[in-house]
Amino acid sequence: MKQKTILTGIRPTGNIHLGHYFGAVKKWKKLQNQDTPFYLEIADVQALTDNFHQPEKVRKNVRELTIDALACGIDPKKTNIFIQSMIPEIAELTVFYSNLVTIARLYRNPTVKAEMKQKKELFGEDGEGITYGFLGYPVSQAADITAFHGTHVPCGDDQLPLLEQCREIVRKFNNIYGDTLVEPEAILSENTRIKGLDGNEKMGKSLGNAIFLSDDEETVTKKIMGAVTDPEKLKKDDPANPDICMVYYYHKLVNQDYVDTVCSECKRGARGCVACKKELIASMLAFLKPIQEKRNYYLEHLEEVDEILKEGTENARKLAKETVQTIKEKMQIHYFE
Ligand code: TRP
Ligand code: SF4
Repeated sequence: MKQKTILTGIRPTGNIHLGHYFGAVKKWKKLQNQDTPFYLEIADVQALTDNFHQPEKVRKNVRELTIDALACGIDPKKTNIFIQSMIPEIAELTVFYSNLVTIARLYRNPTVKAEMKQKKELFGEDGEGITYGFLGYPVSQAADITAFHGTHVPCGDDQLPLLEQCREIVRKFNNIYGDTLVEPEAILSENTRIKGLDGNEKMGKSLGNAIFLSDDEETVTKKIMGAVTDPEKLKKDDPANPDICMVYYYHKLVNQDYVDTVCSECKRGARGCVACKKELIASMLAFLKPIQEKRNYYLEHLEEVDEILKEGTENARKLAKETVQTIKEKMQIHYFE
């Protein structure tokens, strides 16, 4: 039995919003409290595969994201946070694994396909301008996971095709070079997709429907006041359907103790939307307050953030070096030792 190791990654392309928090980070907080090594990769190299033209954005977000994660309660004593580009062994493994995957297979990867379509300005109408790096990022993600013997990968269902690709690479490696690597499995979060304020199935920065952990009172108020409610409800005492209302949806996330009252009052017509939104704003601000206090602390102590990243990266690198050593031996490319 191989030891259990949890590994996940996040691309530093923007600040954390409620979608990330309830879809992923909340789960990570639970997982870091188990007696299992937990690695959190800030995937800057992967972020560059579709942001190569805006390196300053990726650079800035490495720290921003780390600060957000720490503010949410990711504890550097329990979670090993590291920067992908500072572990060159991951790049080495990517090169080795690139022999074990066909180009046709990468083109068929549903996640790659979907992302390619969203990035027409970079990769062309039909993907004819796709880069080698972007097409191959599932290979580098397989390197991310296996460098640390990741056995369990917390992720959303959009990541399953990438995990499957990793498992295929692992199997092929083990077949050719002998049993070395473990096939990782997913830990799916129940709440993979958090809806946006506009009712869209997904909350996203580019969709303009997100509440960020860093949003101030005025921004939160404005966003919630504009959230989509039951369009049939015109007057304060009209009964309505909370199930199609985003205000109710967020009450469920941040106001669990009170949500049954919201639901029954809404259905009975005993609740006006403005008052309901105001209550949500108050709960949301109360939810964000401790997170923002921690954010501000780290913003004022950037040297601590850097120290956490340095230490986490150093730790992680030790393990990645050992893995590369083993893999090179198996591939018979170890010399003079
Ligand atoms: N592809 C993931 C995302 O876009 C980020 C990621 C990078 C990742 N490396 C990983 C996730 C390794 C899980 C395991 O969100
Ligand atoms: Fe939504 Fe609240 Fe209005 Fe009901 S009363 S429709 S839950 S905002």
